[in-house]
Parts: sequence; structure tokens; C-alpha cells
Amino acid sequence: MKHLFRKGNDPTKPTLLLLHGTGGTEQDLLPLAEIIDPNANVLSVRGNVLENGMPRFFKRLAERVFDEEDLIFRTKELNEFLDEAAEKYNFDRKQVIAVGYSNGANIAASLLFHYQQALKGAILHHPMVPRRGIELPDLNGTPVFIGAGTNDPICPSKESQELQALLEQAKANVHLHWENRGHQLTSTEVDAARKWYLTI
Ligand code: MLT
Repeated sequence: MKHLFRKGNDPTKPTLLLLHGTGGTEQDLLPLAEIIDPNANVLSVRGNVLENGMPRFFKRLAERVFDEEDLIFRTKELNEFLDEAAEKYNFDRKQVIAVGYSNGANIAASLLFHYQQALKGAILHHPMVPRRGIELPDLNGTPVFIGAGTNDPICPSKESQELQALLEQAKANVHLHWENRGHQLTSTEVDAARKWYLTI
């Protein structure tokens, strides 16, 4: 997968896995990593799917309707890429914390839904429920931050609560943060994520 890796200057720190929104690139979320933890490793990945020229992490059939088969395939592909990247760049595969926005948050949530050890934790900015009707792995206290907007037309507030409930049923430790805004990622939400990150 197209990506960039930046080694942090503190070997005890995790690796932040940056996952952009639809139409983004691996450059987009670099400022977030600076805010969340400037000393961590950064692995920023570009989605392998193109929708009218816009990079994404998996195909969709329509707005808010995912191509489930492709989602499963791309989730596996990303998980395997993380295994390979950990070898190549010599970081601890067990210390990967995802930071995703929108489509990138959705594939991060899908990693949590499908693989027990894929992520040590996750910051999900405006995620949706990636799949329904499946049994999640035991997430065993995995810390998850969900940033949601009370007026988000893409991720209605009910869906953010549903995602929280599904992850909590799988024993994840979820913090749901609300902004009285829409789908945009605000600096107050990023700051809330930074403060949450300091507690995990
Ligand atoms: C998705 O397709 O993953 C969601 O609708 C969010 C987005 O617009 O990327």
C-alpha cells in the first residue's frame, strides 16, 4: 500500500496509524499525529480503492452503503500490510494505535470488528458501524475514542451510539465524545482526542 513511515524519537511510544477520509492522501492527517503524540512513530497509509479519482479504503455501493465483500478483503489487506510494515520498519506490531477520519475511521473500526490483535487502540473521528450481524472478537479493554457530531448527516448520532454499544459488548473501553457540529473534524475534537490519548 502507498504509505509513509516516520520513526519517532522515543522507542517506548506506539505507532500511530493514520487513515484519511474519502479523497484524502497519506499527507492529510500528519498534523493530527503532531498534536496527538509528536514522539510516536507515524505510519500513514493511502487507501487502495479509487472512487472517481478519490482514494478510499474500501468500495461503497452508494453514500452510506458499503460493499461488504470489498470491506472484508480490504480490512484483511490492511491488517497484513501492518504485519509487513512492522517487520520492515522494525516497530512493535502490538503497539499500533489507529487515528482515522470518516472512511479511514470506518476501516479502523473494521479492523477492530474482524481482528482481535490488529490495534492496541483507536481514535475514530466520525466513524459509522462497519458491519452488522457479526460476532466481534474479544477486545479485552482496547481503548477506543469515538468523535461524533450531533448534526452529522453521514454518521447520525444513533449510529455513533450503536458503534459504541457494539464495541462495548466486545469489551472495548469506549469514550464517546460529542461535538455540536456536522461531519467536519474540529480542533476541539482533536484536542479531546489528545487529552483522551494521555489517559490510555
Ligand atoms: C464511507 O463511505 O466510509 C463513509 O460514507 C464516510 C465517507 O464519506 O467517506
